[in-house]
Amino acid sequence: MKRGSLIAIEGLDRTGKTTQTEYLLNKFKELNIKHKLVKFPQRDTQIGKLINQYLTDKSFELSDEAAHLIFSANRWELASQIKDDLNNGINIVLDRYVYSGVAYSSAKGLDFEWCLSPDKGLPKPDVTIFLKFQNIDEISTRKGFGDERYEVAEFQDKVRMMFEKFENNKEFSKVFVDNLGKEEVHNKIWQIIKPLSEGCDEELSFF
Ligand code: TMP
Repeated sequence: MKRGSLIAIEGLDRTGKTTQTEYLLNKFKELNIKHKLVKFPQRDTQIGKLINQYLTDKSFELSDEAAHLIFSANRWELASQIKDDLNNGINIVLDRYVYSGVAYSSAKGLDFEWCLSPDKGLPKPDVTIFLKFQNIDEISTRKGFGDERYEVAEFQDKVRMMFEKFENNKEFSKVFVDNLGKEEVHNKIWQIIKPLSEGCDEELSFF
């Protein structure tokens, strides 16, 4: 039996990641392919509850380093479950993962390599889809933008620059989404995911 594929969807806030993960999950359902969604931050765990408080209560004080480490710890909480599910032939779709962790924290000024270090050893996605929006001003007019701590246009612009540092990584796939409808974006994503949809022959790699 092939192991499941590990697929991450990344992007700035309010760029349609959750919509696109739903389209992808529906496609797997339609094709009777075993799949599971894991969203980061996973706000339901003990650590996740703390992250939720940090994101939604702007008066909640935490050093940038400590905030970074709890986002990483949240990924480690679920790492062995992810590995088990992949070994059982289940495709895992990640709505945000390690690259969000590094991009958001390094955009605050933390050292890029330091930011990556607590995630070293986590399962590495077979493909990371990055939803690339050029027009940040448009994103900032979207419903709900500004509700959470990082939803500030200038900060999102810095995060975008940090995400760009991953663009040469082998498994990183950019999808330009400006002026495209949801279905059109989904079709572009599906072209990339399709070869991995029935699972993966290669051994899982790690950060
Ligand atoms: P969400 O809107 O996808 O639930 O993510 C919540 C916020 O958390 C979003 O602004 C991105 C940020 N984030 C980090 O700063 N570090 C991380 O490791 C992750 C997964 C998200």
